Amino acid sequence: QRIMVLYGGRADEHSISCISTAGVLKAIDTERFDVVPVGITKTGQWIVDGEDPRGWSLEGGSLPEVVATPGSRAVTLDVSRGQDGFFADDPDQPGHVVSLGHIDAVFPVLHGVYGEDGTVQGLLEMMNVPYVGCGVFASAACMDKHYAKIVLNSAGIPTAPGIMVDARKATGESAYEAVKAAKLAYPLFVKPSRAGSSFGVTKVEQVEDEQAQIAALGAAVAEAGKHDWKVLVEQGIDAREIECAVLCAAPGDEPEVSWPGEIVLDHRDQGDDQFYDFDSKYMDSSASHVEVPANLPVSVLEDVREVARRAFKAVDGAGLSRVDAFVTPDGTVMVNEINTMPGFTPISMYPKAWEASGIGYTELITRLIEGVLR
Ligand code: DAL
Ligand code: MG
Repeated sequence: QRIMVLYGGRADEHSISCISTAGVLKAIDTERFDVVPVGITKTGQWIVDGEDPRGWSLEGGSLPEVVATPGSRAVTLDVSRGQDGFFADDPDQPGHVVSLGHIDAVFPVLHGVYGEDGTVQGLLEMMNVPYVGCGVFASAACMDKHYAKIVLNSAGIPTAPGIMVDARKATGESAYEAVKAAKLAYPLFVKPSRAGSSFGVTKVEQVEDEQAQIAALGAAVAEAGKHDWKVLVEQGIDAREIECAVLCAAPGDEPEVSWPGEIVLDHRDQGDDQFYDFDSKYMDSSASHVEVPANLPVSVLEDVREVARRAFKAVDGAGLSRVDAFVTPDGTVMVNEINTMPGFTPISMYPKAWEASGIGYTELITRLIEGVLR
């Protein structure tokens, strides 16, 4: 079967998708699947025959990017032709295109907007092409942290209290007043509602001076607003973040949940209140490691698994997701967020959690793809 792997994309998380794809392409069973990797540049151009993603990694301090090269060919879509609707420039006849062949399924290894938010899923639905992962609604609902809260809360699943502010209009003062009105306690986390990998997230500590507090909030809202006009101001939760991998390869299956894991920061200085931001995640990946199962009582791990399963079902999840939970000191489990296309990088929790729960990386990918083939 021919499987198209989509990577890169228009989101801020472009490079993370590239590194996830390196992992997926190295692990995928090439005896079983004929893989067609298709890159999407940051401006949205689809290409084949660009740089080989398998060479990409987190090492070296620079992040990979899909770019059109003299050797790459532009891809065009003919939506009306469905699984036969993928074409690339014909190298022998300029101005003509050749078919990329019948595509049995697409694995969109895309993080963030235009990939993990229902847009690519909608395109593939229109083309009637099977694809790995959540459908349009679950993707859209989980990409938007504001709406994810609404869905989860109405299913009885607690989340951190928070409010939405419109970065196009909000000022430090208006955000400060809104925080007061909602009785949110500091520290606050200010984040773009639709982004990932901690892009644009600022932790705002409580300060004595009111003007300084207003300025700090205003700056945090402006920073998040660079990524999305919808900005979530959330109460920081005194909790450990415990992540659980969900797998529901075939439509209608009962979701399976992994042992929950935890990202443990090494050499963490005493009193260091640095949170797990983009740099500590990806640019200094040797500074943390993944622990599965997380060092918690089995009863708490089981609670996390149950909440992850319920959260996945509450959003109409399909295929896969990583549910990031907060576990408070008294054992309360809340959901921080649901990532419908979790990272597949060498340091990422999703494949590691399954490995520790008995499903190897290659088998995981095979199951995800086979679940959607028809
Ligand atoms: N958004 C990143 C890729 C993750 O959740 O792993
Ligand atoms: Mg995310």
